[in-house]
Amino acid sequence: MANKQFDVIVIGGGPGGYIAAIRAAQLGFNVACIDEWKNGKGGPAPGGTCTNVGCIPSKALLQSSEHFDQAGHHFADHGIKVEGLGLDLDKMLARKDQVVKQNNDGILYLFKKNKITFFHGRGSFVKASEAGYEIKVAGAAEESIEGKHIIVATGSNARALPGAPFDEENILSNDGALRIGAVPKKLGLIGSGVIGLEMGSVWRRLGAEVTVLEALPTFLGAVDEQIAKEAKKAFDKQKLKIELGVKVGEIKSSKKGVSVAWTNAKGEAQTLEVDKLIVSIGRVPNTIGLNAEAVGLKLDERGAIAVDDDCKTSLPNVWAIGDVVRGPMLAHKAEEEGVAVAERIAGQHGHVNFNTVPWVIYTNPEIAWVGQTEQQLKAAGRAYKAGTFPFLANGRARALGDTTGMVKFLADAATDEILGVHIVGPQASELISEAVVAMEFKASAEDIARICHAHPSLSEATKEAALAVDKRTLNF
Ligand code: FAD
Ligand code: NAI
Repeated sequence: MANKQFDVIVIGGGPGGYIAAIRAAQLGFNVACIDEWKNGKGGPAPGGTCTNVGCIPSKALLQSSEHFDQAGHHFADHGIKVEGLGLDLDKMLARKDQVVKQNNDGILYLFKKNKITFFHGRGSFVKASEAGYEIKVAGAAEESIEGKHIIVATGSNARALPGAPFDEENILSNDGALRIGAVPKKLGLIGSGVIGLEMGSVWRRLGAEVTVLEALPTFLGAVDEQIAKEAKKAFDKQKLKIELGVKVGEIKSSKKGVSVAWTNAKGEAQTLEVDKLIVSIGRVPNTIGLNAEAVGLKLDERGAIAVDDDCKTSLPNVWAIGDVVRGPMLAHKAEEEGVAVAERIAGQHGHVNFNTVPWVIYTNPEIAWVGQTEQQLKAAGRAYKAGTFPFLANGRARALGDTTGMVKFLADAATDEILGVHIVGPQASELISEAVVAMEFKASAEDIARICHAHPSLSEATKEAALAVDKRTLNF
């Protein structure tokens, strides 16, 4: 019997893959999406890392742990007395699982709504065929399908430290970090990047003594220095202990916990004894089981699928998007690439503007930015103007009782075009969107300064920071 034929086959059902599949279906293509992720019962759980062990469950736990922290430490400031405050961690984790399930189910519904054929199993290249490419799907059963265009969206996996493989009991990746069954008394993290800070915050708020060991001598090196410094002050206050410039040595895991030998920035030998250790030192592109070699699909030196600016691979009609290719490992970047590729397959001109991809770290305070940092502008020798506005001078922030941080604008010295916006403080994740829109439209700082912002709102701090570029803040 002839294989089932599709216009587009997407391998991987994470935010890159499932969005690519939906956009391709909207454009009139006959689309299949293959994803192998299994839920606890062995059934399909599309949504990839982001939905299952990334963006969504981490934000669910960040929210729950933030409520706990607020009730324990901040409600009293508002005149609210809390007695007998307690933690039901099982319920908190079950709620997180429920949020994940709602998202899995939502994606399955979207596949149906858009008439996308979903295959639950592993997709791998077999060979180039007359119709395009033959792909094997290995799930409960095994079958072969054929597609004219293939979009590879197989994501990434956590990077392990040499000699310390993840067992998800003691040495945890992001997966285990999201389902620790009891709050550890002592928790260690290797790497103070995005996962280190978010997961460290969750377990710190729930009562763990948290130590983060970071190799680099600077805290959040990719973040604007002024913003990173402000964030570090807040984390210090929360007693999130972050050791910079360390060298991690031998890691020993036993029934009692984990022992980490490390050297501090002064070169002194130290040992960290913890109940659990989360290793969050970055992620590696995932091409395991894809059988890329069968069709000669080229990888780059990092093991990512080699693509050009349009996500075209070394093979005709084979595209790759998201974490498995170059660029930031972010869900929204993967989604935008998915849309752009589907549109290119349809002969349109889909495009992703990497200069306006926002970053958000969902800690308290939140950290968000778009565009260039002050240190990058200095290094590039670009003439710029900077303006900052502290949340301390914002009425809404004072009413919220959350005045940590600031908004910072960087604009071209001659043209006033916005080059970067950096926020540390309440709702930074939401506030950054205005800056993204402004930069996408090549706005000047003056444009934002002249726009009416609702009062009282945190967004007034954005307007004021834009005014600050020309030293004319009104409220500071
Ligand atoms: P993935 O989401 O990894 O999806 C790939 C899918 O393909 C998986 O389901 C996998 O099982 C499947 N697959 C792989 N190979 C095959 C195969 N051969 N056949 C069939 N299926 C296959 N990003 C943000 O933007 N915001 C956040 O707040 C955020 N939080 C995060 C928190 C954590 C703890 C982690 C780990 C990551 C977070 N990220 C966040 C990053 C985000 O999860 C990734 O950038 C995003 O998931 C990448 O999407 P993707 O579609 O490329 O790959
Ligand atoms: P990361 O790249 O953000 O941070 C890794 C950190 O580990 C770096 O600071 C690095 O210097 C340090 N490191 C590397 N090797 C080390 C070693 N041997 N010893 C000590 N420190 C070491 O990676 P992370 O936190 O694992 O997250 C992976 C990716 O997932 C992020 O880069 C991001 O793309 C994505 N993510 C996004 C989130 C968001 O958007 N809010 C949340 C979580 C993850």
